Amino acid sequence: MDFLDIMRRRKSCRAYQTDRTIPREELLKIVEAGRLTPSGCNSQPWKFIVVDSPEAKEKLCDAIVVENGMTGAPWRHQVSAFIIFVEQPAKVMPAVVNHYRDTQRFAQGDIGAACMNMCHEAFSLGLGTCIIGVNDQSKMEKHFGIPHGREARLVLAIGYPVDASPVDKVRKPLDEICCFNHWE
Ligand SMILES: Cc1cc2nc3c(=O)[nH]c(=O)nc-3n(C[C@H](O)[C@H](O)[C@H](O)COP(=O)(O)O)c2cc1C
Repeated sequence: MDFLDIMRRRKSCRAYQTDRTIPREELLKIVEAGRLTPSGCNSQPWKFIVVDSPEAKEKLCDAIVVENGMTGAPWRHQVSAFIIFVEQPAKVMPAVVNHYRDTQRFAQGDIGAACMNMCHEAFSLGLGTCIIGVNDQSKMEKHFGIPHGREARLVLAIGYPVDASPVDKVRKPLDEICCFNHWE
């Protein structure tokens, strides 16, 4: 399968086979895809917390429910493992700091890239994934010992999909999002 086919076939998975365990070696392959991801000034401003024990998964399921019981993952109890992406202080070049006055300028983009590389590695292993964008920071700190103020930017759910068949991608047309040489 060429790379574009992988990207066309990967989809967010919101129904997982329950009671399945992902071998640690496979989880580590997924983490390796994150580790290899490029980042601004190669600062690698991330820490990945892999959550695969039943007790820790229960805590994670609690941490992705926010006020009024709102969650992006009503299917969260089916998930075999999660990865929490915590933003770390970035060491970037002085020129970047001088220009933007912001050492974290690239960090969220870097984390997004790491997360997508992990999604594609998981797909290549026959696993489904879904990114979960909303979580309760104070529960994250309490349940996982994350230092106060270190933001858990994303959570990635990983498991064996109930249905791995490809779906049509809902995407903006190319001519709406791409132009050559000048803004149009
Ligand atoms: C930053 C981010 C946050 C997301 N949060 C959620 C979420 O909380 N719950 C969910 O079901 N999907 C979530 N998604 C998945 C998107 O809805 C999904 O990627 C998008 O609809 C495109 O569909 P596809 O992944 O199947 O191609 C998130 C995706 C991103 C990139």
